[in-house]
Amino acid sequence: MAALEQAAHAHPWSRALLADVFGERYFTGALWHGQQLQGYFIADSVLDESTLMNICVSPAWQGRGLGRRLLEHYFTQCRARALGWLWLEVRASNLAAIHLYASSGYQESGRRRNYYPSDVGHEDAVIMQKRL
Ligand SMILES: CC(C)(COP(=O)(O)OP(=O)(O)OC[C@H]1O[C@@H](n2cnc3c(N)ncnc32)[C@H](O)[C@@H]1OP(=O)(O)O)[C@@H](O)C(=O)NCCC(=O)NCCS
Repeated sequence: MAALEQAAHAHPWSRALLADVFGERYFTGALWHGQQLQGYFIADSVLDESTLMNICVSPAWQGRGLGRRLLEHYFTQCRARALGWLWLEVRASNLAAIHLYASSGYQESGRRRNYYPSDVGHEDAVIMQKRL
């Protein structure tokens, strides 16, 4: 996961942060090609809400519908866990991800101004919500 995280994200999570999100509160899904991990999501759940904390697809496999399939897999897991209120935060510059989320039923519900450090200062976090 740490290797894929580094390859897929412009601003990857550290290995320590990845190691922290395994436990009762969290659930994950993975895409494999043979023995090789090609994508995953990490989410948490609190009461009937879930936050999608991380989703990525290996750069070599992006743009082939796998991100959307991974997101559908996340929705299936949420339904199975009776999680009806879905949340996420995404960098305002991440248009590919925002497009994926918007076309999967997420709506922008707010912004945190200058929330994420970026290469040129800070950028907004777009908060998105979906009722499953
Ligand atoms: C976001 C991400 C998971 C999408 O995965 P993917 O496999 O490339 O996406 P898909 O092929 O399933 O495409 C799904 C939608 O994403 C959008 N999309 C994907 N690549 C895009 C691009 N380069 N530019 C614009 N939109 C794009 C499209 O809206 C596409 O919908 P379409 O089927 O109507 O064309 C992937 O690009 C990724 O891992 N990015 C780096 C990590 C990241 O930013 N994660 C999200 C924030 S945590």
